[in-house]
Amino acid sequence: MAARKILSTQVAILGAGPAGLMLSHLLARAGVESIVIEVRTHQDIAGTVRAGILEHGTVNLLVDSGVSDRVLLEGDRHDGIELRFHGESHRVDFKDLVGESVWLYPQTDVFLDLAARRAADGGDVRYGVTDTSVHDVEGSPKVWFTDSEGGEFEIRADFVVGADGSRSSCRPLVPEAQRTWYFHEYPFAWFGILAEAPRSSDELIYANSANGFALISQRTETVQRMYFQCDPREDVAGWDDDRIWAEFRGRVNGNGFELKEGPIISKMVLPFRSFVSTPMRHGNLFLVGDAAHTVPPTGAKGLNLAIHDVQVLFEGLDSHYNARSHHLLETYSDRALDRVWKAQQFSYWMTTLLHTPADANDFSRARQLGELNSVVSSRHGMAYLAEAYTGWPDPH
Ligand code: PHB
Repeated sequence: MAARKILSTQVAILGAGPAGLMLSHLLARAGVESIVIEVRTHQDIAGTVRAGILEHGTVNLLVDSGVSDRVLLEGDRHDGIELRFHGESHRVDFKDLVGESVWLYPQTDVFLDLAARRAADGGDVRYGVTDTSVHDVEGSPKVWFTDSEGGEFEIRADFVVGADGSRSSCRPLVPEAQRTWYFHEYPFAWFGILAEAPRSSDELIYANSANGFALISQRTETVQRMYFQCDPREDVAGWDDDRIWAEFRGRVNGNGFELKEGPIISKMVLPFRSFVSTPMRHGNLFLVGDAAHTVPPTGAKGLNLAIHDVQVLFEGLDSHYNARSHHLLETYSDRALDRVWKAQQFSYWMTTLLHTPADANDFSRARQLGELNSVVSSRHGMAYLAEAYTGWPDPH
C-alpha cells in the first residue's frame, strides 16, 4: 500500500456545512490556513432541505465578512411572527419590541454562498471523502482520509475542529470520563412538506391548536414550507395530499384565515430532541454546531447557534495565532455554552408552549392557553420571545 500523502495546515476542519465553511472563511481572512474535509458531496448538501431563519447577527456576519450580500438581495426580512391559538392570530412585532429582524434565507443558500466564496478564494475544501479518522488530539493531531479519487492522506494540524453535524465522529473523542451528555426527548416529531402554492401570509405563523402544532413557513413566491406536529413513528407513505391539507386546515384555518393549498412536492418526518455535549473542547479538538448540540427546530436556533460557536472559536484562534494570546481559545467552551443553554431553554420553551402532548387533559390545555395569553397580552412577554428569536446581543 502506498504511503499516505502528508498535508500540513494550521486547522483541520471536519464538515463543510455552514459552520465548517464559515470557520475556514474567517480563518483565511485572518491569515490562518485550514483544510476542510466533508464526507458528503457538494451536490448532496445542496440538495438537502433545511430550515430557513437567520438571526440579524448571522446575516451581519455573512455580509460583513464578505461571504455574499445575496441574503440581503434575495432573502426576506421578517420584522415579526404570528402566534396563532384559540382561532386567533397575535403578531409579535420584533422591530417594535427589540428593534431587530430576522431573515428568511434557507440554509442551503447559506451553504452555496459559503462554498462559492471558499472556492473563489482558493480555499482547500474536499467533498466526498471516505474513511476519515482523527488521531492524537491530546498532542499533535492528525486526520486520515481517502479523497473522492481514492488517494490516501494524512493532515497534520495544530488543531482539529469537529463541525461534522449531529452524527459527529469527533464528539466521541472527548473521553467518557471527562464529558457529560445531556439529552431531552420529546414525544412528537414534525411532518414537513414543500408545497407549490402562493404564500398564505407575509410572516411565519406558529400555530397552537387542540389538534396540535403547525408552522407555516415559506421558501419562494411559488413554493412554501410547512410543518405539523406528528408522532415520531409516523410514516409519510400513509399521507396523501388530501389528508395532509385536512390536517393543516384543522390546525390553522378559521376566523377568516384560510391556508393556500397546492401540490405537495416533498414530505418527510423530522424527529427531534435536545442534546448538549460538554465540554466543547478536548486537548486540541474543538466541537462546533450540531456536533456539540442539537435543539428542536421550534426556535429556529440550530444554524444560528452553530454560526455563533464559529464566531467564538474564530476569536480564540485569531488571538492565538495573531496576538499570541491564548485566553480566548482556552475559554471557548464556556463562552460558547453560555448561548447554547440560552438557546436550549428558548427552543424547549417554544416547543412546550406550542405543541400539544398526546396525553393532554383539560387542565394542561387550559394552562397552555393561559401561558400563550400571558405572552401575547404582555409587552414583556412578547419582548422575551422577540429578543430570543432575533438573537440575543452578545455579551462577549
Ligand atoms: C423553515 O422555514 O424551515 C423553518 C422556519 C422556522 C422554524 C423552523 C423551520 O422555527
